[in-house]
Amino acid sequence: MTEQDFILKAYHTNVETGSVKWESPSNIALVKYWGKKKHQIPENPSISFTLSNCKTVTEITYTRKKTKEFSFDIYFEGEKNEAFKPKIQTFFERIEIYMPFLKDYHFKIETSNTFPHSSGIASSASGMSAIALCLMSIEEKLKDNVTSSAVERSGDNTYFNQKASFLARLGSGSACRSIEGELVVWGENESVAASSDLYGVKFEGDVHSNFKNYQDTILLVDKGEKQVSSTVGHQLMYGHPFAKERFSQAHDNLAKLKTILASGDLNEFVKIVESEALTLHAMMMTSMPYFILMKPNTLEIINKIWAYRLKTDSKVCFTLDAGANVHVLYPETETETVLQFIKNELANYCQNAHYICDQIGHGANQL
Ligand code: DP6
Repeated sequence: MTEQDFILKAYHTNVETGSVKWESPSNIALVKYWGKKKHQIPENPSISFTLSNCKTVTEITYTRKKTKEFSFDIYFEGEKNEAFKPKIQTFFERIEIYMPFLKDYHFKIETSNTFPHSSGIASSASGMSAIALCLMSIEEKLKDNVTSSAVERSGDNTYFNQKASFLARLGSGSACRSIEGELVVWGENESVAASSDLYGVKFEGDVHSNFKNYQDTILLVDKGEKQVSSTVGHQLMYGHPFAKERFSQAHDNLAKLKTILASGDLNEFVKIVESEALTLHAMMMTSMPYFILMKPNTLEIINKIWAYRLKTDSKVCFTLDAGANVHVLYPETETETVLQFIKNELANYCQNAHYICDQIGHGANQL
């Protein structure tokens, strides 16, 4: 598929009004996306677990209008929200070529998250993918009874999901990995044949039962605004002295992870996942300007996890996003013991002892 395949050609605008609703999950990267080229093309491939409980629910009501500019209102958790507008405006501008009907309608976008707003959990992946899916459902309605190309009418939801992921990527890179589950790969690489820089694809390789219902408990170390926005963060990879090596390491790690997912080797899984998290932060610490996004409590938690692993036979491990919060990953069989460990030894390092229990999920749903 190329960008051209995602341009909507035949549609009608005799649909006056309607509404569509989707819920879309967040995702947590195992091999990290950090660094991008123009048009939201990643510098390296990434793979993530789709989450289950951390979701955004979005309803879009569309009404036909005569004027020829973008027109939309956003309501976040019931309240009109102006702060999100510029991001959506940019998103609409980027995707208009693929969705030429955007200026024919006024959109009322009502959105809410299942996780607390001020939790420091990035909502751009779930938020942008939910909007992209709603827009795809609107596109479907406008396309009804109009003969479109063979790719668009393939009979299954491949085209729908690919274009939803393609659009979500133009909103926020990691959002393209939130359409499907349980593991999604984004970015061309040799080990995953169908992989693309343009959209995320469901990982179709063998996955050992050790990874079934894998658990992710998110420890909220810092609920504040992100110190460095991801846009600024990705830019730090331009001219970064270690960028080339890092991008090639991500390819190697993805290939290794593919083998590990099939064999179920949890010790090797831990090594790749933790090394990826620390490498992401190492990239930020060695860029110009440089940042330390971990907090003292992030390190306390990491050390506790390592000590717990030494003491027990646990396969619990951590990963991090571009912030201080810690995602604690562990097999379903360890749920009881690890939750006890979190409660006894890690919760104190979280703001207000707050953490969120999640697990691997199956992707977005239309409501
Ligand atoms: C550290 O997807 O938030 O979470 O494309 O600029 O919106 P933009 O960036 P974003 O970057 C997320 C980076 C990460 C790692 C990852 O999820 O792979």
